Order: sequence, then structure tokens, then C-alpha cells
Amino acid sequence: MFCTYAKIIYICGAKILKKLKLRKFSTMKYTKMTAQEAAMLIENGNTISVSGFTNHGTPRVVTGALAERAEAEHAAGHEFKVSLFTGALTNEFVDEALAKAHALDRRMPFQGSPAMRAGINGGEINYFDMHLSVVGQYVRYGFLGKIDFCIIEALDINDDGEIVLSGGIGCVDTYAQVADKIIVELNSAYDARIKGMHDIYTPATPPHRREIPIYEPQDRIGSPVLKVDPKKVVAVVDCYYKYGVKPFSPVDDVTAQLGKNVAKFLTRELREGRIPAEFLPLQSGVGNVSNAILRELQNADEIPPFKIYTEVLQDQVIELIDQGRCTYASSGALALSEDVYEKVMENIEFYKQHIVLRPYEISNHPEVVRRLGIVAINTALEADIFGNVNSTHVMGTKMMNGVGGAADFARNAYISIFICPSVAKGGAISAIVPYVSHVDSSEHSVMVIITEQGIADLRGKSPRQRAECIIENCAHPSYRPLLREYLKQMDGQAAHTPISLQHAFSFHKEFMKSGDMHNTSFE
Ligand code: COA
Repeated sequence: MFCTYAKIIYICGAKILKKLKLRKFSTMKYTKMTAQEAAMLIENGNTISVSGFTNHGTPRVVTGALAERAEAEHAAGHEFKVSLFTGALTNEFVDEALAKAHALDRRMPFQGSPAMRAGINGGEINYFDMHLSVVGQYVRYGFLGKIDFCIIEALDINDDGEIVLSGGIGCVDTYAQVADKIIVELNSAYDARIKGMHDIYTPATPPHRREIPIYEPQDRIGSPVLKVDPKKVVAVVDCYYKYGVKPFSPVDDVTAQLGKNVAKFLTRELREGRIPAEFLPLQSGVGNVSNAILRELQNADEIPPFKIYTEVLQDQVIELIDQGRCTYASSGALALSEDVYEKVMENIEFYKQHIVLRPYEISNHPEVVRRLGIVAINTALEADIFGNVNSTHVMGTKMMNGVGGAADFARNAYISIFICPSVAKGGAISAIVPYVSHVDSSEHSVMVIITEQGIADLRGKSPRQRAECIIENCAHPSYRPLLREYLKQMDGQAAHTPISLQHAFSFHKEFMKSGDMHNTSFE
């Protein structure tokens, strides 16, 4: 009993505290609503879009209330589903909550929550995976239909519709422009002094489009605030929430070795003059492995201080900036763990000199990627011996997350590198296979593959030469004999690309049968 009272007092106390923490904002003008009231504005069959990229900048209270509403509608026997367009990854109150509530019809472009994956792979949610750089233009061109609502997490809004965004932008510039109505979540938990880190720019529509005038990662071409039509703002919801992103887990030996191999490759390119002495801007993907690679670059003495032009900034970049190893970082989001984000906020004026945040249409734009000469480092689930990369589909059928920006960068990079551990699932899966079970980046966009085993430089090599190079340098030693045997079958065959149509998926089929690719035979 005491426990229950204590719990009630604690919850009430927390609510009062949260109320006290609500800041005073610049706006007087808009209709204030609770999250539940705002969720009631959304109708069955609507398309909703949200701001943000990862937890940062992604709203939560209205979508959380929408999920509850969907459950109530279903319990009352009513149909209730919406289409959801996001920046990319969201938080548990968007993807996870709406998928669990069976409230989703269509979803795009990138996700990563267990319930969402289950809904997609189970056939309930119609997910279409897209290169992030084209999401905005697809929406503006009208390819994906009408957007009814855009829900925006804001750190401030004034009566002219100028919004200070948080650390993740995603595609909100386009969503807010196209949506019929806007709902704003005014989040008191974070400081609006981040204003000035953003550079919001949306390209014009052809035939009126001009070049994107970014010639260096630090160039600013847009507005520090998101400008929306104030007449479209139908509700402002006061709220308070922290993102609560956890720090990365410690790096294991395989990941550390992978990072060392990347640093070794880049150092060699620099030494041999294929990367200029002043170095080139880096892009690195999302996740533990990418974070670890940046850590290794921190210690690579021969690599001079460098710039970053990427889609997502993770914790390690802040350390690189602090140490002067990274002189400037341009990104679509600050995907930082809570402690690191707070540290950035404490010294925000310093970091504003070193970081710019852009919509991902710009952070990933092929024109800019190619002009700046980006060295792109992305992660593969599997790669085949010819250099094709699968980043999205487990065993060719089950969606993992989505292609994200990987191929935006890979296709247009100065050097395009794909990395992965040579094996998964305790060795039962080889990440180097005879033929990928799904293609996200083709052999024509992949220049270098790096695993903890070594480096396969595919530039200027024929398919047969690539196959030998990848098997001998990147495959795990326990899979090399099988891969050599596979390739040998094609000896003497008149084939530019020696694919055995009979055995191309033998590794995958064996894993589905026995649970271990080592048991593959080519009978
Ligand atoms: N077959 C089946 N499963 C595999 C696999 C393979 N070939 N390779 C890895 N996996 C599994 C792992 O075992 C792990 O499973 P678990 O979560 O059950 O342990 C999971 O896939 C993730 O693998 P991990 O090694 O932890 O990789 P990661 O977290 O670095 O993610 C991608 C790898 C490819 C899924 C991720 O980088 C991604 O989504 N990439 C596409 C988008 C992108 O590159 N964006 C960046 C552009 S800026």
C-alpha cells in the first residue's frame, strides 16, 4: 500500500515538476492543445509526416496519443490507419508505438524498430525504402500523394511561423511546405540556443533548379530557422521530454581491427597521393562500427585534421572536434547520446563554430557529394565476391532498416568504401557470399571492401580479379576454401562475370536449411 502511495506521490510530483520546467516561448498566437486533442485532428487514411532524424528532433507526444487513439478505435470496431513519412529512424513513440497499435498503412523511408520490422516483414505495413536524398523531391513533385499533417518538434516558434528545430532535421523542410496542416510539439527540455546551428535550404523544382552553392562543408546557404506558414499551424502542444539516447557499447576486437584496416587504407591512399595532402571530407555511416572507425582515425597520425560531410553525427565526432582532429562537421542530425548532447549544449557557441545541420536532401545530395570529393564509409550486411553490396535485406527477404543514405554517398563518392565484419551470428553466416541475396549498391558503386580480415581494393579490376581479391583479403579464413571451390566451378566457362546460376545462393540456402553456411556443398 505504502508503495502505491509513494508511486502516486512520485508521479504527481514528477508531473508538477515537468509543468514547472515548461519554458516561456516566443509565441502567443497559436491554438494550444493537449497531445490527445491534437491526435483527434488526424483522420483514418491520412498521411502524416514528422520532423527529425533519429531520436533527435522527432516528436513523440502526439504520435504516442495517436497510437492510443488507434487502439481505442480498433477496440470500438472502427478502421484506423495512417501513412507515416519520417526523417529516418524515429523513437519508440512513433514507429514502435504506431506499429504495435496496428495503425500504419504505408511507411517510408528508413526505420529500425522491432515492431515496425515485424509489421513490414509480416506484410501488414506497406514499406517503401528510398534513398534519403530523393525523399524531399519525390514528395514535392507529388509522386507520393498528399500529406495531411506535419508534426514538428520545436524548441521555439514565433508568431511569424519561424521554428527553432532541435538536433535532427530529416526532411521537415519539405514536409512542412507540402502538408495541409502543422502540429507543433514545443519541447521545453532542450535549449533553443542551438538556433544558428541549422542551415535550412530546399532546392527549387526543375526546370528552375540551380546548383546547390556548397563548395566547402562549412558553407551556409539557407536559413537558421524553419519557416512555416503560420496559418497552417493548427495546434501547439506544450511538452517536456529528453531523448535519452544511450552511449555506444565498448568496441570489440573485430570492430577495432576493422577500424584499424580503414585507417590503414586511408593512410596508404594519402601516402601514395590518391587522396590530396590536405585530405578530403569523410562520410561515415550509422552505428557502433562507424563510431569505432572514427575513433581509429583519431589515432591515425599521418592523417591531417579533416572535415566531415555526412548524414548523422555520432558521439565520436564531438571528441574529434574537441581534440582538433575534426575541424568542421556538416550533418543532417546530431545523433548524440544524452551526456554528450548535454555537453554540446553547455558549450553551444563553440560547437556552432564547428557544426552545421542541414536537411538530408542537402547533406546527402549527389551533386555536393561529388563536388566535395567525399570519402564514403558505409556498412554492408553482406557483400558478394564481385563487389555488390546488400545493406538492407537479411537472407534476401527480411527488411532490416533501409538503404538510408548509404547509396547516395556510395554512388557519388570520391572513394566508396563498404565495411562489415567477415562473419555474423557467431560465424554461421559469411558476410562474403557467392552472390548477394539483395542488391543496394552495385559493383559499379563499390570501390573498396574492408573487413577485420583485410582490404579488397576493387578499383580497375575485372569481375574475376575482384572475386579473387575479395576472397583472399576479406572473407573469413574458414569460408575461403568454399568460396574458392565455388569460383573454380566456373573455370574455363565463357563468362565475363563467373556466376554459377545453379549455386549462386548456395550459402543462403544452406543457412536456411542447417543454420550454418559452413555446411554448403556444390553437388
Ligand atoms: N545476414 C544476416 N544477418 C546479419 C548479417 C548477414 N549477412 N550481417 C549482420 N547481421 C545481423 C547481425 O548479426 C546483427 O543481428 P542482431 O541485431 O540480432 O545481433 C544485425 O544484423 C546488425 O548487425 P551489426 O553487425 O550489429 O551491424 P550494424 O548495427 O552496424 O548495422 C546495417 C549494419 C547494414 C544494418 C546498418 O549499417 C544499416 O542499416 N545500413 C543501411 C543504411 C546506412 O548505411 N546508412 C548510413 C548512411 S549515412
